[in-house]
Amino acid sequence: MSVNIQDLAGRPVIIGGGIAGLMTALHLAPEPVLLLSRSPLGADASSAWAQGGLAASFGDDDDPALHIADTLAAGDGLCNEEVATRILRAAPAAIEDLVRFGVRFDRTAGGTLRLGLEAAHSRRRIVHAGGDGSGREVMRALVAAVRSIPTIAVLEGYEARRLLVDDGRVTGVLARSSTGPVVFATGRVVLATGGIGGLFNDTTNPLSSCGQGLALAARAGAALADLEFIQFHPTALDGPGRPMTLISEAVRGEGATIVDETGRRFLMAVPGAELAPRDVVARAVARHLAAGHRVFLDVSEKPGAAFAQHFQTIALACRRAGIDPAHDLIPIRPAQHYHMGGVAVDHAGRASVAGLWACGEVASTGLHGANRLASNSLTEAVVCARRVAESVAGSSGAGGKPTVAVEHPSSDPVTVRPILSRALGVTRDGEGLLAAAFALLPLAQPHGTASDPAIVGLMITISALLRRESRGAHFRTDYPNHAAAARRSEITLEAALAAARELAHAPAQESVI
Ligand code: SIN
Repeated sequence: MSVNIQDLAGRPVIIGGGIAGLMTALHLAPEPVLLLSRSPLGADASSAWAQGGLAASFGDDDDPALHIADTLAAGDGLCNEEVATRILRAAPAAIEDLVRFGVRFDRTAGGTLRLGLEAAHSRRRIVHAGGDGSGREVMRALVAAVRSIPTIAVLEGYEARRLLVDDGRVTGVLARSSTGPVVFATGRVVLATGGIGGLFNDTTNPLSSCGQGLALAARAGAALADLEFIQFHPTALDGPGRPMTLISEAVRGEGATIVDETGRRFLMAVPGAELAPRDVVARAVARHLAAGHRVFLDVSEKPGAAFAQHFQTIALACRRAGIDPAHDLIPIRPAQHYHMGGVAVDHAGRASVAGLWACGEVASTGLHGANRLASNSLTEAVVCARRVAESVAGSSGAGGKPTVAVEHPSSDPVTVRPILSRALGVTRDGEGLLAAAFALLPLAQPHGTASDPAIVGLMITISALLRRESRGAHFRTDYPNHAAAARRSEITLEAALAAARELAHAPAQESVI
């Protein structure tokens, strides 16, 4: 589509072309909106890679109250119950929205939704599409729906570099395309940029997901929340390929077991065994690996012959890695998978800076607490996109005139990746976090290519240093227990930089780490 950039001035701008961004655009229609995507729609979004589906209480034996209870239990005391109630009660209707937009979910012979099981769910409630290709099918339908609506202008190949802010409110977006920098004047911006996997060596996310939305929001002055809570998936296919191939929890939901090189199911002693909450399984696998064992997924008995049929994407990845799951054990290790933290948002997805919203993985609504329940994130993105769209539509677009923008270099996470991978893995400690903060601070200086990934890494590191307890996915060997009171965390870029500078000048003390 050929568009005149000037004609787009004043439209709400959605940054990101994954499920959260597309759904927000669809709910905003017919209000004219501009969607910016770095890559062709569907090509680079972690949404498209999702194997697990969407959690919603459809089953005859299920009820939203049970879904909420499972979510709160997995979240280890840190979920916002009111948020969880609001989002999860709306989940079944949000899935009906997706059906209306053309998503073909897997169904039983009787035509009802086929419901799968994943870890820490007390009922079968995961809706899939195309077996383990749920994200791909949802994206196919939503991209087609977005392209069919003339009021949604999609600019592909545009990377947002900075939010322009004047007097505490958004006035525009500075972006870059192959033809150079461009400013979009707007008083309403929705971040839907996804997660942070590209900041880690071992991740199941696209390597291009480097926390760009967090950097944009932080530089605009917005508060970020719960950044220290990073989810590691216990069963990524262990091998040289990066990003790593996910082996969905749904495979364990269908009976696959986790064993070591002796064939021992070492998780049997853990309540819930292989279907314990994801943080618990990831730590058990990581510990077993660190103790010198090898760890595998065994699908030979269960799901057995059904494996290759139900999990075609995974079966293909195994075959490409030279593994025949019918006979061979599948080598696994934990990998960064999801960020519970994000831009702190209210019930309507509003950030702390006027004119800024966030939706999907980049946002922190309070639903996930310290450890996200499997398949709650696509559900959250779809439910919240509607709320965000309603809020954006109900807000004045007046943002004033954008300030003159300076070009910024594109960001490169390569120097940040080893620092975060070392210090912010499945287990952490004060010494390692402090070393990471010292290493990140010089990289965070403005104008370097590492600056954006480094400020995100630094904010995560300082949040992890300040949380002197273990809870959910944040496990500190030097503080292995829960603190007496559960509290969510919030941080701004200014506060993180001040804390890091103070640490750099102070000798390492027990009181600061
Ligand atoms: C999975 O399929 O195991 C991942 C689902 C999720 O991360 O929610």
